[in-house]
Amino acid sequence: MSDRGKEFLRQFENPSQCPDPRSFGFDGSNPYYNLLYSVAKERQPNLVVELGTCTGGSTSHFAAGTGGKVLSIDIEIRPDATNRLLAFDNIELRQGDTRDPALAAEVAKRGPIDLLFIDTDHTAEQVTVELALFGPLVRPGGLIFFDDIRINPGMSAWWDSLEENKLELPQMHWTGFGVVFR
Ligand SMILES: C[S@@+](CC[C@H](N)C(=O)[O-])C[C@H]1O[C@@H](n2cnc3c(N)ncnc32)[C@H](O)[C@@H]1O
Repeated sequence: MSDRGKEFLRQFENPSQCPDPRSFGFDGSNPYYNLLYSVAKERQPNLVVELGTCTGGSTSHFAAGTGGKVLSIDIEIRPDATNRLLAFDNIELRQGDTRDPALAAEVAKRGPIDLLFIDTDHTAEQVTVELALFGPLVRPGGLIFFDDIRINPGMSAWWDSLEENKLELPQMHWTGFGVVFR
């Protein structure tokens, strides 16, 4: 394991639950929500970019932790997510296809990403495209999180063959969770 991996584990192996009553969606089956909150709280990223909003639970945990901006992108922005996330003034929801290079070019104009979370359609094909488009926007020293790296054989093979400074945190989600250090 790399030094950054050891340091990350030392800090975040057992992240605590988010105390902010505006956060939602944590039900014990998804301890990675605690990680999202704790890392955001500890590192205070200026810009978090999340690929895959869905109901907004993960978005709320990032936003509860950091005073920075959380830009969350989904191909379909759900009204229930929009309504619940209105409680935060540091979230921007953006409808778009994360496979679209024009969207990545637009995001690049926001400045370097401190923390990127990739959690959309869990296929090796899609995550490969997303990492190619958005990964270069992450600043040196930044982090990339991946949910569901063990959700299917294709994702599992993709993660195993990924040549990055990476760390797997199986305790964060029963479907797998990975970190890449940039
Ligand atoms: C697993 S859910 C996200 C869960 C959320 N991050 C959480 O932990 O609470 C996946 C989301 O990815 C979105 N999605 C799938 N393919 C996409 C694409 N090509 N572009 C943008 N969003 C996509 C889906 O609409 C869905 O809402």
